[in-house]
Amino acid sequence: MITRRDLLAGVGASFALGAVGEGCSDPASPPPPTDADQSTDASFPDDAPLLDAVDFLHGVASGDPLSDRVILWTRVTPRGGRSGAVSVRWELSASLDFATLVASGELITTPARDYTVKVDASALPPASTLYYRFSSGAARSPVGRTRTAAVGATERLRLAVVSCSSLAHGYFHLYRELAERLDLDAVVHLGDYIYEYPSNYYGSVRPYDPPTEIVSLSDYRRRHAWYKRDADLRAVHQQHPMIVIWDDHEFANNASVGGAPAHMPMTEGAWRDRKAAAIRAYFEWMPIREQPDGRIWRRFAFGDLVDLVMLDTRIWARPEQVPGDSPAIRDPRRTLLGDEQERWFFEALTTSAARWKIVGQQVRMGPLHPKFNTDTWDGFPSARERFLDTLDRMRTSNVAVLTGDIHTSWAMDLPRDPFDRRNYDPRTGEGSLAVELIVPGVTSPGHPPEVEAEIPGILRDNPHMRYGNASQRGYILLDVTAERLQAEWFHLPHGSIERRERRPATLSTGWLTRSGSSHLTQAGTPSVPREGAPAAAPWEPA
Ligand SMILES: [Fe+2]
Repeated sequence: MITRRDLLAGVGASFALGAVGEGCSDPASPPPPTDADQSTDASFPDDAPLLDAVDFLHGVASGDPLSDRVILWTRVTPRGGRSGAVSVRWELSASLDFATLVASGELITTPARDYTVKVDASALPPASTLYYRFSSGAARSPVGRTRTAAVGATERLRLAVVSCSSLAHGYFHLYRELAERLDLDAVVHLGDYIYEYPSNYYGSVRPYDPPTEIVSLSDYRRRHAWYKRDADLRAVHQQHPMIVIWDDHEFANNASVGGAPAHMPMTEGAWRDRKAAAIRAYFEWMPIREQPDGRIWRRFAFGDLVDLVMLDTRIWARPEQVPGDSPAIRDPRRTLLGDEQERWFFEALTTSAARWKIVGQQVRMGPLHPKFNTDTWDGFPSARERFLDTLDRMRTSNVAVLTGDIHTSWAMDLPRDPFDRRNYDPRTGEGSLAVELIVPGVTSPGHPPEVEAEIPGILRDNPHMRYGNASQRGYILLDVTAERLQAEWFHLPHGSIERRERRPATLSTGWLTRSGSSHLTQAGTPSVPREGAPAAAPWEPA
């Protein structure tokens, strides 16, 4: 019988997270932490036998692609409800037949990390599609497909952008559709990947496990596991690396650093414990490169074309919401990002040499009259001004902000004051400092279809807004070249997600910003899919 001690003695250093290679060659990212949980779990003595009968029920996933590393993820389920340590082998190859391996390793997972497995595979070739798989005993995971980021001269980047997947509202047809778009470099998820609600509370098409609101570590783990039993969700993870940030529902509705309106300390315990449980389960179950202290802000370089900066406007530093007429709103010390993250963010923008700077974040940045909402950047006007000041000082254009959270589609210019003709001309876009692209929900609902009749009036009242759709589910396809950044909104027909049969999303509109312009114009032609996309990973294990 192989014991944990035998395995530790035999394989040594490859048990650390980041099983191949040392350190981190990309200065844009902090070095990955060594993950003590995977190798030193005090509850399992070194001579404990290894479980060898497991299943891979939750698929595979990859994420946080750098030019030389990518996170690989899976989860094992011991058969017969047994508990113990499980040894898992992983392999990464440039070809589907795994004839030669680019990297491989073996590690142990235990209940201490809910049997999840996370590898930061390193020393990989840039701009490469790679296939990966896991095995344990006789069990094999499905094969996953991932892609590293480019270095140097880069002609094109194609990303899908999504947010807000309330499982209770319906089926993840859009995830399946993105799994079939084989020419993407990555999928960016802006949060609300899970929802914390009980069954039949917010949506009633599909039930949740656990059926109650999630509060404890065990609850959050079960909810993540429930999501990853969804075949469409597993499909998108299987075919593309995902770059994720959380929003409020990975914790609780409208959460902030110190609490959430729906969190009841009397019955649900201390917020810090609930938050810690949510963060821990997220890091266990999501293909994200982990950093200390629960920070998730980080950046990704796609050659000389795009720097993608991902922010946490939700949990890291945001204070509690205040009413819209509160004088606290104007307090310049009121911060959405916190000083440390804000400094890092502005430095990332000002030092970026990439053609485009894309900012992935949670909440609406530009104003949307008359919907003043203190849950968005509206509640932090001085933080918004500091961001626009930074762009102004940089004298650089080519900044696009990606937003989720509100389950509706919007395209807008970001001038200092869109309602003041002295600094913004809506006819030419002059005065705009950046653009904002807001992605609708995968399943989470916007407004009823009748609201679309009000869109023309909203656009008239908001001269910086170019496009709006308040009722349809969809995603943004982002196609970036040196000349222009083009965003295309794909939408599902009403009534699609409630039915198991899948209907395709269709292209509603495209808006682009030309290099050097900092404002939006309507796209003349849809972007063209890339030819010769690498083969899909097969759904079933070989
Ligand atoms: Fe949401």
